[in-house]
Amino acid sequence: MKTEILSPDASAIDRAARALAAGEPVALPTETVYGLAANALDPLACARIFEAKDRPLSDPLIVHLPSVDWLERIATPDDLALRLAEKFWPGPLTMVLPRRAVVPDLVTAGQGTVAVRMSAHPVFRAVAEAAATPLAAPSANRFGRISPTRAEHVLAELDGRIGIIVDGGPCAHGIESAIALVADGGIEILRHGPITAGELAEFATIRSAAHRGIATPGSLKSHYAPLTPLDLVGGLSGAIRENTGLLAWHPVSDVAGFAAIEVLSLAGDLREVAANLYAGMRRLDERGLARILALSIPEEGLGAAIMERLKKAATRE
Ligand code: TXA
Ligand code: MG
Repeated sequence: MKTEILSPDASAIDRAARALAAGEPVALPTETVYGLAANALDPLACARIFEAKDRPLSDPLIVHLPSVDWLERIATPDDLALRLAEKFWPGPLTMVLPRRAVVPDLVTAGQGTVAVRMSAHPVFRAVAEAAATPLAAPSANRFGRISPTRAEHVLAELDGRIGIIVDGGPCAHGIESAIALVADGGIEILRHGPITAGELAEFATIRSAAHRGIATPGSLKSHYAPLTPLDLVGGLSGAIRENTGLLAWHPVSDVAGFAAIEVLSLAGDLREVAANLYAGMRRLDERGLARILALSIPEEGLGAAIMERLKKAATRE
């Protein structure tokens, strides 16, 4: 299959919507990372997502709504979920809620819950509105690899496996949405993201992840991983530098001897760090080095979400 990258004009949006209606998966930009979208109500179309990504069927998909009024057709949100949707949608918050029967088992991996969000990206929204159906969309990378934040990353991951990539430029946030299980009047954060624990805590108690022993399939330890072994370090004294790439979230002075350096933000601004994280990791990975060292980030606010990705990238199993 030939894979085309389309500029995001009206004809691309029309082509993407027609491909979706024909049951084909299409890669689309969102404000977090690029997604590989298919009609969420069509199990055959969703099966092609799993096939293109080599994704295990046990890993459920996020359903992206064309508009808020779809929420109650897909899930049964409680009062808290409705308030969170009102505050954070469209935007980078995914809520895990009790599902309705219309959602195929393939999308939920047979669970009683469905993950839902509404993307704020204008291109994603235009395609979802034109397709007039919820879109199941995981990140547009092969399973376990680094999420794409640019159209050319999607091409590197899925060339020949999908027909269309709509190019929406670099993703604004650069890391995946926060995932919150909303139940019993409380919130459990299943994945940290651009909407932080602090922002969510204004709405309800944040419970610890152990609260109810639910399946959180996304919580595989190794994920978002470069092929090059990555280690997280607190500082650089004594570090091996030969044939080593350095992933630094702010400028550091003591860098002599490293084979390659990626500084993610000159000002050490965590928003910028998140936005550049995967592109920087990917560039270092492409150098074919012996190892990558990543500098740890204080785990507060957005730092918690970034560190969650770095820890998973550093896990080799
Ligand atoms: O920012 C994002 O969320 C991006 C863009 C494309 O929207 N999507 C994304 O999807 O990151 P994905 O599939 O790469 O990660 C979604 C995670 C998976 O780890 C999956 O296991 C988890 O969400 N998930 C999906 N449905 C779930 C459910 N019902 N309960 C618990 N976890 C769920
Ligand atoms: Mg993913």
